[in-house]
Amino acid sequence: MKTAFVTGASAGFGKAICRALVANGYRVIGGARRSEKLAELEQELGEHFIPLTVDVTDEQSLNAACESIRDLSLPIDVLVNNAGLALGVDRAQDADARNWERMIATNVTGLSMVTHKLLPAMVEANSGLIINMGSCAGTYPYAGGNIYGATKAFVRQFSLNLRADLAGTRVRVSNIEPGLCSGTEFSLVRLAGDQDAVNALYQDVEAIRPEDLANIVVWIAEQPEHMNINTIEVMPVAQTFAALSVTRNL
Ligand SMILES: NC(=O)c1ccc[n+]([C@@H]2O[C@H](COP(=O)([O-])OP(=O)(O)OC[C@H]3O[C@@H](n4cnc5c(N)ncnc54)[C@H](OP(=O)(O)O)[C@@H]3O)[C@@H](O)[C@H]2O)c1
Repeated sequence: MKTAFVTGASAGFGKAICRALVANGYRVIGGARRSEKLAELEQELGEHFIPLTVDVTDEQSLNAACESIRDLSLPIDVLVNNAGLALGVDRAQDADARNWERMIATNVTGLSMVTHKLLPAMVEANSGLIINMGSCAGTYPYAGGNIYGATKAFVRQFSLNLRADLAGTRVRVSNIEPGLCSGTEFSLVRLAGDQDAVNALYQDVEAIRPEDLANIVVWIAEQPEHMNINTIEVMPVAQTFAALSVTRNL
């Protein structure tokens, strides 16, 4: 039985990814800060789900979590670096610097450090797959996307650079770049709990669902071992590109 470690397992994509991987015969270690949410998922998924409380931005917490993984003596076949967040939609000139710090700490430093801890064992075993959760925001700029989009651009380039370093090994790295998704806590977190604003965002729009994303993760994980899926970009049909902005009489 293969073992996957999914970060951000307490909600949204992560929870759906854990469900889908368990349904497809994987043992899943699910990491997040909210233990009670992980306990609920354990109740639902049973013995093939192992909850692991971890804050990826906290060095001590991450060290302890990695020690717990080592103690389980379960080599990680698939790492899904999914934990992440956006905070705020203010323009850069109005943004709260603490939001920027938290996004960088989670989406950049946290993702990097989880990878740094688990990658050597994959290289030693000469197998393994890392699936990073990027975003369309890492490619397409939009007003208010400032640091969030930049952290996801980091995820894209880090994923490609990892593959460059992994030349000559069988370790694979993929980056998924979703567009607008509903059914997760992402927008509620981003909009600081403003449920009306969240409802307005998703009103009359058929967005991507967490289960859609989970299917993509399972599909990547099930590809033959001689293939590396570099990047998958996915948007709802209801979402497409906006024209570049022009200000008249500036
Ligand atoms: N939803 C979208 O529209 C969308 C689009 C493109 C990309 N994405 C990306 O997809 C990923 C998942 O997003 P989602 O929509 O599923 O959001 P979500 O429902 O808010 O889930 C985020 C998950 O990350 C975990 N997390 C946050 N900070 C953490 C930390 N410091 N340590 C450990 N876990 C942490 C949360 O758990 P705890 O709070 O329990 O720690 C939660 O399980 C993110 O990387 C996001 O940027 C989302």
